[in-house]
Amino acid sequence: MSRVARTALWVVVVLLVGFGAIQLVPYGRDHTNPPVTAEYQWTSAEARTVARKACYDCHSNETVWPWYASVAPASWLVARDVNSGRDHLNFSEWPEGSAIVTKAIGARIAAVVGEGEMPPLQYRLLHGEARLSDAQRQVMVREFGDTP
Ligand code: HEC
Repeated sequence: MSRVARTALWVVVVLLVGFGAIQLVPYGRDHTNPPVTAEYQWTSAEARTVARKACYDCHSNETVWPWYASVAPASWLVARDVNSGRDHLNFSEWPEGSAIVTKAIGARIAAVVGEGEMPPLQYRLLHGEARLSDAQRQVMVREFGDTP
């Protein structure tokens, strides 16, 4: 074997072993969804449909985990998005009965959706159904009021 071929083989072996080794990292492997304790009470069924398609994977306890969520390092990125997404906003654990809280959270939702910041770009690239049309964005903005 030539020197170049031997080096190339080594690189491949090291990459494969490395890829195998990172699969053993526990972070991001637990895909058990917590229970839905208090789902946000949607006014518009249409808005709920949009949110379930475009938001619930990161902002609810009903995450549908894609296959690549089981393969490191993609699994780490997905886990980070879901954990952080749920921390910021969780449609499955809506703060109880407070119209004021709903108004405050709703204003943020209307703002990020209206400006096209949510769902995030990496998610839109992988989920065609989450690329919202202007009409779908309007449905969400209307659900949560127009006031940013
Ligand atoms: C791929 C996961 C993912 C999806 C899908 C997603 N989000 Fe988020 N969202 C996040 C993460 C992570 C954060 C917290 C970090 C940040 O602000 O970027 C967040 C933050 C937010 C916040 C808080 C922002 C603030 O500054 O107050 C709101 C509101 C929000 N998202 C609304 C939505 C809505 C509405 C949808 C659906 C139209 C959606 N998101 C879809 C991951 C996601």
